[in-house]
Amino acid sequence: MRRLLLAVAALGLPLAVVPEAAAATSLGDVIPAPAEVAPAARADFRISPVTVVRTGPATRDIADRLARDLRRVTGQPLPVTSFAPGPVPKIALVLAPGDDTIGDEGYRLRVRRNAVTLRANTPAGLFAGTQTLRQLVRDRTIPGGSIVDYPRFAYRGAMLDLARHFHTPDEIRRYIDEISRFKVNHLHLHLTDDQGWRIQIDSWPRLTTVGAAPGTGVDGVGGGFLTKAQYRDLVRYAAARFVTIVPEVDMPGHVNAAQVAYPALTCDGVAPPPRTDTAVGYSSLCISSETTYRFVEDVIRELAALTPGPYLHIGGDEAHATSEADYLTFQQRVLPLVTKYGKTAYGWNEIAQSPLATNAVAQYWNTTTSNPTVAAAAANGMKVVMSPAQKAYLDMKYDPATPLGLSWAGYIEVRTAYDWDPAGHLTGVGEESVLGVEAPLWSETLRDLDDIEFMAFPRLAAIAELGWSPASTHDWESFRARLAAYGPQWTARGVDFYPSPQIDWR
Ligand code: ACM
Repeated sequence: MRRLLLAVAALGLPLAVVPEAAAATSLGDVIPAPAEVAPAARADFRISPVTVVRTGPATRDIADRLARDLRRVTGQPLPVTSFAPGPVPKIALVLAPGDDTIGDEGYRLRVRRNAVTLRANTPAGLFAGTQTLRQLVRDRTIPGGSIVDYPRFAYRGAMLDLARHFHTPDEIRRYIDEISRFKVNHLHLHLTDDQGWRIQIDSWPRLTTVGAAPGTGVDGVGGGFLTKAQYRDLVRYAAARFVTIVPEVDMPGHVNAAQVAYPALTCDGVAPPPRTDTAVGYSSLCISSETTYRFVEDVIRELAALTPGPYLHIGGDEAHATSEADYLTFQQRVLPLVTKYGKTAYGWNEIAQSPLATNAVAQYWNTTTSNPTVAAAAANGMKVVMSPAQKAYLDMKYDPATPLGLSWAGYIEVRTAYDWDPAGHLTGVGEESVLGVEAPLWSETLRDLDDIEFMAFPRLAAIAELGWSPASTHDWESFRARLAAYGPQWTARGVDFYPSPQIDWR
């Protein structure tokens, strides 16, 4: 900017022709797109050395986090205070229950020259509003006007696969930081699979001493697991950012690592060899054995005890080594166990085959846009989280040149990830059955946080917008312009995003 001013001065042009800022923003320049935006002229708020952030004690954490973020980008002191009389220029965070329009996660933002006011019914709503505010600040200025905003769907999710390659608590925390900026409110952790078991279970200790040993991972790279203390810490860290952790143990298939650790979980009692390849569909728990159900109940009980959130994901996908009859027998035993420990059962869409799935949540991952089994269960009350692989799988390559990822569901450029409607995608599964959307990221080809970031961003922003914003705001040209403006924020934070050629990055 400074260089631009000097160049303009050298040309002898009046300084007034220089735009207010090269990256000047407008009030709606936010991802996900807000529900209602009303800009106001000459009402911009400028953050100055005397600006404060005002809030009450119940929302002090949210205000502290906002102030820290804004200090970094504005260089201003922005003290957080509970007292800031009339004329003090302020960003006020106000908890004011009773506003039916905005619900549990919405907020109202009003920006005038002397004050910014953010109001919400709940701390979650205030947090969502601070994410909007954070995106609007450019060159110490917040554009004037007002926003009324609330989510289209209750469930906006992302998923990390810790089984194919382990990801550390630090990496998971960084991912939570970034997804919560887009108002994503669930992080699903795929904790177990054929290659590794990544969560401590006290009653079956070999799951991690064997199943998470060095070399347990695709290509024999990796190893590692979350201790219960680490897991609880992640749950707390996520909750402070209004993200609920959803744990998954995948069964009755995808269980080779558990069977290596405990051969009693096979029907012949013989330990299979450890697997470091990426094949799927070859392992199955022994459906006729009571040991299986003792194991499953122990795992569900211990996981439920670690989980304050409502959902416990039991996998259920690609059980090709389990007969159809055995699959139904298994679900008939296991779905009630999740309920017994106080949680809502959640599984991949194959669980819809079970008559008991009507009380569960199914995650739709298949690539077909018609699935009569899922549609019938939805008609009977089952809720659906939409993750169609050809749209929402963040591990699919962007194009044939992408160095990471897979392509079995196709290539997913940013526009492909953006251009679909979660409530219009699957025949017979409309708005009333859709709980939300989730963007899974499988880790067969991923090792570290840079890999995760490169595959997740910018596509996670597209899925987040589908989950939050009203369908009426859906517009590719608008999204791609807002995404272009977001790029510098990722750059500033060192997020290794994919610079898609579909976007004119700033
Ligand atoms: C899946 O991709 N097997 C859920």
